[in-house]
Amino acid sequence: MSEHNGKLYIETVGCQMNMLDSELVVAALRKDGYELTNDPRAADTLLFNTCSVREHAEHKIYSSLGRLKYAKRKDPQKVIGVMGCMAQKDQDLIFERAPHVDIVVGTGQLAEIPRLIAETRTAEARQQQKAVSLGRRDGSVAEVSGSFQSYDPLRDPEMRPTPFQAFVRIMIGCDKFCTYCVVPATRGPEQSRKPSEILSEVRVLADQGVKEVCLLGQTVNSYKHTEDGRLHRLSDLMYQIDQVPGIERIRFVTSYPRDMTDDLLHAVRDLDKAVKYLHVPLQHGCNDQLRLMKRGYTVEEYREMMGRINETIPGCSVSSDFIVGFSGETEASHQLSLDAIREHRFKNSFIFKYSERGGTKAASLLPDDIPEDVKKRRNNEMLDLQNAISEEDNAEFIGRRVSVLVEGLSKSAVKQQARASAEDRSFSSGETLAVQLMGRSECDRIVVFDGNPRLSGTTAEIEVRDCTGTTLIGEIVTREVQHGSSSLLPIVS
Ligand code: 5AD
Ligand code: SF4
Repeated sequence: MSEHNGKLYIETVGCQMNMLDSELVVAALRKDGYELTNDPRAADTLLFNTCSVREHAEHKIYSSLGRLKYAKRKDPQKVIGVMGCMAQKDQDLIFERAPHVDIVVGTGQLAEIPRLIAETRTAEARQQQKAVSLGRRDGSVAEVSGSFQSYDPLRDPEMRPTPFQAFVRIMIGCDKFCTYCVVPATRGPEQSRKPSEILSEVRVLADQGVKEVCLLGQTVNSYKHTEDGRLHRLSDLMYQIDQVPGIERIRFVTSYPRDMTDDLLHAVRDLDKAVKYLHVPLQHGCNDQLRLMKRGYTVEEYREMMGRINETIPGCSVSSDFIVGFSGETEASHQLSLDAIREHRFKNSFIFKYSERGGTKAASLLPDDIPEDVKKRRNNEMLDLQNAISEEDNAEFIGRRVSVLVEGLSKSAVKQQARASAEDRSFSSGETLAVQLMGRSECDRIVVFDGNPRLSGTTAEIEVRDCTGTTLIGEIVTREVQHGSSSLLPIVS
């Protein structure tokens, strides 16, 4: 193949792990001279970082790929790659369903991407390439683990949520094997990274101006690594990261209820830098369903854990995930999930309709027997209840002050900015000095308020005046960088 323009388009769906993977792949490709574009038509290299957790996410990717069929026919020089969970799960099926795809790369082979792209581009004749890890039963634990490499060599500031927030992977994979879940297959065996490696990555990030790190793992609180003869748990890691100058906030997702040990709760309580927020999915409020899901705990055990969280860290907010319409879910068991939301008053819940996934225990052993309209109705009932509870609890903040790490423009300000630039007029210059900004409180609540965009990356005191179910609305109390030029708007991606 011949000359290429070096423009890279990358589409990322799914969880924070995928966002981080995309960041790392972009960083590696930039070293090869690539630059990012938001326009798939302008790109000669297109990557899709995929998710397999629900069928819907896969459909989205196959539709995006479908749209490229004619573009590839018109310009065969374009290199199209599919990476991530769907690549690991579907492998050759991707080539069958989308024959114009050139490269399929699983979650454990991301380091191969620059080489595979270069080889595809220089090959004499078109040749599809695949790099995936072993299946969970295709070798010994060591062999399978070895085939899933942790890939954390380079960072790319432009791909971060904001310039001062970064994800840091502390472990990969999952060994919990919940019956509905495809992740143990797509991300491989649970493997914790070395604490020394994680710490040096955090130091580099802090030197680059990062103030908040979000530690990532599928079951992040199961983290365990023995280094220099000493066992390091997540709590130990938190104490070490706390010492890194420049880092102001430490958070971690996602926690597994059974591994929510007291040492970790004490670390969250005692470290000023630890965000007082835990994401600990309950998944269901009915023991029969939890057993079928093979979650490894009962509602009573989850209640005990919530008791310890509330006692140890008063004011700590907790969010959950729920699945509705899993196999055999009765109206009565659904009511128990609603009861659990009422009891635990989660800050928010991510609610998902059960989506049967090939290769899981549930797909082979349990019927997907709840009709779609029932799933939808139960999903809406849970959402309505959770929203009402979130709004009630947010209202408790009215009149109080919260400390907010300012992330940048709020969603509505970003939209306003886009409209203004479409109409070809300056957004804030000559109109107003302040725009609506957003950030998060110490207990992870989204807060919006008017201020100068230059406050981004600073911590501001906000007095809460109003709220919705998802947002606290306030006014700034501190006056750090309140004045200055107004036509800036660098900010959030
Ligand atoms: N169907 C629906 N939701 C699922 N999740 C995981 N697997 C499935 C599935 N097959 C949800 C769980 C998990 C979140 C990331 O996605 O609630 O916590
Ligand atoms: Fe999936 Fe369960 Fe592992 Fe979470 S703990 S990634 S739901 S198998």
